[in-house]
Amino acid sequence: MNRNAVEFQNVSKSYGDKVVIDNLSLSIPEGNIVVLVGPSGCGKTTTMKMINRLIESSSGEVRVFGQDVRKQDRAELRRQIGYVIQQIGLFPHMTIAENISLVPRLTQGRQGHDLTKIDQLLELVGLDAASYRDRFPAELSGGQQQRVGVARALMANPPIILMDEPFSALDPITREQLQDELIRLNEELHKTIVFVTHDMDEALKIADQIIIMQGGQVIQQGTPDQILRHPADDFVRGFIGEKRLASNLSLTVADVMLLQPVKLSRFKGLAEAVQTMQRKRVTAVLVADQDGRYHGIADTNDIYKRYLEESLTLEDVMRSDAPTLRPEIALSEAIPLVQDAPFGHVPVVTDGGKLVGLVTRASLVDVLAKPYLEEVVASGE
Ligand SMILES: Nc1ncnc2c1ncn2[C@@H]1O[C@H](COP(=O)(O)OP(=O)(O)OP(=O)(O)O)[C@@H](O)[C@H]1O
Ligand SMILES: [Mg+2]
Repeated sequence: MNRNAVEFQNVSKSYGDKVVIDNLSLSIPEGNIVVLVGPSGCGKTTTMKMINRLIESSSGEVRVFGQDVRKQDRAELRRQIGYVIQQIGLFPHMTIAENISLVPRLTQGRQGHDLTKIDQLLELVGLDAASYRDRFPAELSGGQQQRVGVARALMANPPIILMDEPFSALDPITREQLQDELIRLNEELHKTIVFVTHDMDEALKIADQIIIMQGGQVIQQGTPDQILRHPADDFVRGFIGEKRLASNLSLTVADVMLLQPVKLSRFKGLAEAVQTMQRKRVTAVLVADQDGRYHGIADTNDIYKRYLEESLTLEDVMRSDAPTLRPEIALSEAIPLVQDAPFGHVPVVTDGGKLVGLVTRASLVDVLAKPYLEEVVASGE
């Protein structure tokens, strides 16, 4: 499994005097999902198209299974390489089945229209063969059409599949589904998939290896975890997003806390507190003075239990002994506390007793890379 399906060695591509791929070297291990990620115009599509020779390199060598692509017959080369693009380009006047068998029909005639295989592929990409094979593309949703595009790329059973932003035009939910299915599919099929995106979240989710590109060069290649932990430079750091740097454990509570939690004076009556909570759509309020001195936290339950006692104020029902965090504490230490905190809220309070923010379970999920949270959970905290 360790051989490389694709290798680039010092590959450059220029248009006139414009260099778009600049002395690029990379390797794509067989059976992996490798994601090329980078900003628009950085050369992702160009790199990909040099693999199946839709674009010829100006210098250097591109090898597929060890062989220089320029020494291979183009048609033969492309038989080994499926291709899926964003505008899948299904032919509107052909049925789904005919679209899937398009390429084999071109080369083998009617014999290429292998119904058993078409049905298998439809099922493989999550479409019920009986209900979809005879429909026309316009009758399918965008996500379903994209599944057909994947089925079509698999029809010739190529060992390598190139996918250029295949899911970017889809709504977020369909997109998540297709990402999940691609991962599942490849656990079954073990194809080498080269996948282009400019969405880092997508890359982190589906990739075995990520290749980050900028200005026609490879900036970094590694597993998602390696890239999260050790971004090569500021560009990668920026691209991953400041927020995800939690993974190298350098973040503190201050980096992730909400700065304007809902807070009320301890002398507020309970009806007023409830009204504020409803208006702000929160389930807990922090109790603090005007000058910021922290006193406690109260949630709807604490308040409703004693709501009928009209003379009470927040001071009487708040919890003053609930856990708090100091802003300078490392996030790694804070996470277990937040996980276990009553109602998942932990006020952030300075050494001097001042309320400066709030960390909630929900805000942590927003901020942290999921792999990191999973790691913390898996290690038993
Ligand atoms: N035929 C061409 N002639 C001249 N320049 C080109 C040509 N094709 C691409 N380029 C340039 O090469 C660079 C890389 O293009 P490429 O399509 O590979 O980028 P990309 O990373 O896929 O971007 P996107 O995310 O927008 O799809 C761009 O600056 C583009 O303008
Ligand atoms: Mg592109």
